[in-house]
Amino acid sequence: MEGSIIVGQSGGPTAVINSSLAGVVKTAKDRGAKKIYGMLHGIQGFLDGKYVDLSDYIQTELDVEILKRTPSAYLGSCRYKLPEIHENTEIYEQIFALLEKLDVECFIYIGGNDSMDTIRKLSDYAIIKGYPQKFVGVPKTIDNDLAITDHTPGYGSAAKYIGTATKEVIRDAIGLAYDKDIVTIIEIMGRNAGWLTGAAALAKGEDCPGPDLIYLPEASFDIQKFTKKVKDLLKKQKSVVVAVSEGIKTKDGKYVCELGNDNGYVDAFGHKQLTGTATFLANTIQAELGCKTRAIEFSTLQRSAAHLASRTDINEAFAAGGAAVKAAFEGDNGKMIILKRVSDDPYQCTTDVYDVHKISNVEKLVPKEWITQDGTYVSDEFISYIEPLIQAELIPLPVEGIPRHLVLDLTKK
Ligand code: F6P
Repeated sequence: MEGSIIVGQSGGPTAVINSSLAGVVKTAKDRGAKKIYGMLHGIQGFLDGKYVDLSDYIQTELDVEILKRTPSAYLGSCRYKLPEIHENTEIYEQIFALLEKLDVECFIYIGGNDSMDTIRKLSDYAIIKGYPQKFVGVPKTIDNDLAITDHTPGYGSAAKYIGTATKEVIRDAIGLAYDKDIVTIIEIMGRNAGWLTGAAALAKGEDCPGPDLIYLPEASFDIQKFTKKVKDLLKKQKSVVVAVSEGIKTKDGKYVCELGNDNGYVDAFGHKQLTGTATFLANTIQAELGCKTRAIEFSTLQRSAAHLASRTDINEAFAAGGAAVKAAFEGDNGKMIILKRVSDDPYQCTTDVYDVHKISNVEKLVPKEWITQDGTYVSDEFISYIEPLIQAELIPLPVEGIPRHLVLDLTKK
């Protein structure tokens, strides 16, 4: 390889998105890239002329090791939607002028659905206009809703956190529920896909009953039926713990969170900020049944809990970053790296490349057969699918008891 490479991070961060960045940097170095640039805050920052030469910042093996253990986007992220090509070619010319100036051969973007839309548009534009740059996406999202790939880097770690934290919440609630009933509602991210919420079932084992009810957005939600279920459970037990997706909807397609104090925020891709489902349901149960309730939003904790990341996930994220560089160097364009599960026992997974046009803007949902018939739990197949993804740990590197992170210090150069 004679030219340079540029990498960016985009969309909601994960605990392992920086492991993919580490994989990109390492492989680009090994393959002799002239320069390895990092866009600051993805394509949005790049359009503002913001980028760095990463060799000034990620230098040692130790830097790479700390980066793998650092949550959130090291380079900064964005939720920025490029216009369709015919709507505004100026913006594309601006991007390509900068890529040409930097002698960039390969453009790697680490992100989810919306970010793959950016790869699709840029690779299409390069082909239309005859630009030589190659564009390859690295999958990343805790939501696990990208098509074709078996799963997405970031999902396994978020699932491990959700299973663990749910188990701890259940233990806390059981310990306290003696003379009074307590209903705990846990709200889990994932937008319109229930992959993450289903991970709450991982809490179940010989030392924990697991959540009593799990509601995914793939099944419509009936508030009356839900209240009755909780009421019936309280006849047999003092503590009821329910896991709900932030994206559950009523039969008429309304998000449950919109029934409460809807904050009305919508991002550049038209996604509503989904928050408040647990609070709404906890208030409903309190009003209907008169018992003590608690609403817990795992919120950003579930995507930034690097201290509990899955080593399997970290390694796969790293491999996906490296595979993207290899693919782009070898001439792939308009592609995304996918993870292919080769075998379940022992679990083995490998990478491949796939046409991004078949992936961007498609939401992969939990199959109906993996949700119980009454829509209140996930099946054993779901658990078997997820279990290998949460295995093993990568111990944090603490300084004075708190994990160390690698941060981009722009004053350093
Ligand atoms: O796309 C990942 C995700 O974590 C979704 O599960 C969630 O709805 C969304 O991001 C929240 O994004 P933000 O932090 O920008 O509100």
